[in-house]
Amino acid sequence: MENEVKLAAGAMVTLGLATAALVVLPYIQVRDVKAPEGLKPYTSAELRGRASYIANGCVYCHTQQPRDKSFGPDAERGWGRATVPGDYSYDKPHLLGSMRTGPDLMNIGVRQPSKDWHLGHLYQPRAYVPDSIMPSYPYLFDVKNEAEPGDEVLKLPPGYAPQNKIVVATPEALDLVKYLQSLNRSYPVLPPEPQAASGAAAPAVEAAPAPVPVPAAAAASAS
Ligand code: HEC
Repeated sequence: MENEVKLAAGAMVTLGLATAALVVLPYIQVRDVKAPEGLKPYTSAELRGRASYIANGCVYCHTQQPRDKSFGPDAERGWGRATVPGDYSYDKPHLLGSMRTGPDLMNIGVRQPSKDWHLGHLYQPRAYVPDSIMPSYPYLFDVKNEAEPGDEVLKLPPGYAPQNKIVVATPEALDLVKYLQSLNRSYPVLPPEPQAASGAAAPAVEAAPAPVPVPAAAAASAS
């Protein structure tokens, strides 16, 4: 009997320590983090797009966590500065991702603001990046003979639309693109509070250079 008690007590202690280290401490670290001034809450269209991003498994191939310069060349790839906890204030659940089959998308709205490009790329990635291994999402689009009022007709590169037909974006595709365009963490973030040193100058704002566009295929193969 004595051994069973020891075993149970040991298990409880191990579980308690693990919970403290992996749940309680991280919670205490980030619970008071405020949303940076430059970050806007998502609109309802963007939130619908975000749900579609999750449903379509984009997160399995794309991260949303550019790393610090000391960890990798993400900034040189044009993926933006390293993110800080506040950047995820409105991300529930966050979509950090763990696989980089494609480029990091945390700043895709800065790097690629064009709605036409995004719609066409979702319909057929190889129309824009010939060797792309990203799946196409044809079910986010309707193929029609002619446009009706209010239709968003895709402007595809020649040869990619079905013959004598037009491709029209569904509301889901439009919401997804609005979400992608909203991904912008290029505003400056403040470094940690300076120590109360005598005559300390105002804290310098960490420079946040806008991400530079890079060829997507090159960026993907470099990950
Ligand atoms: C099987 C992996 C895979 C999945 C799933 C996937 N992608 Fe991609 N994605 C890639 C690869 C590889 C690239 C780079 C080549 C290209 O641009 O097509 C890419 C590129 C992109 C780009 C351009 C990035 C840039 O820096 O130019 C965007 C935007 C994008 N994907 C969005 C999405 C969205 C939205 C979804 C979900 C609907 C998705 N991806 C699902 C692999 C994937």
